[in-house]
Amino acid sequence: MAILPILKYPDPVLKQPSVPVEEINDEVQKLIDDMTETMYQAPGIGLAANQVGALHRVIVFDVSPPEERPKPVVIVNPKIIAAEGEVKYTEACLSVGDFSSEVRRKARVTVSGLDRQGHPLEIEGEGLLAIVLQHEIDHLDGRLFIDRISRLKRGLYMRQIQKQMKK
Ligand code: NI
Repeated sequence: MAILPILKYPDPVLKQPSVPVEEINDEVQKLIDDMTETMYQAPGIGLAANQVGALHRVIVFDVSPPEERPKPVVIVNPKIIAAEGEVKYTEACLSVGDFSSEVRRKARVTVSGLDRQGHPLEIEGEGLLAIVLQHEIDHLDGRLFIDRISRLKRGLYMRQIQKQMKK
């Protein structure tokens, strides 16, 4: 397993939609292992493949309580098949750095996909699990949480990173 560099905004790869995995081969298995290790090392609670430069539809996450970790969940080709309710949650992202903001999301989602053995799975979630599922699937569609906040708040973030880049 290897710890991979995590791409940061405004890296253009983060804006690219990822393509579905057609075969869960050794390369994809290795990607899953590396993503899992990279996520824990960051540390983060979720990671999408394009955050480490691989444009495959693969996400990993672990929202279990600290004492139960590690309990990584992998979804290949995740897809939201049902969603309801509304919730606001303060989000951050390993690709966005030192910035967090409230984002409006669906309160409950059902996601279908494949596990790493290629078996179909379905995960129904609310609370943090629902947020993480939507946040990571957004990544696969080339979308960051800062794309879902107000223009005013995004402006604050833009000025913040411009300052950091000048340093
Ligand atoms: Ni993220």
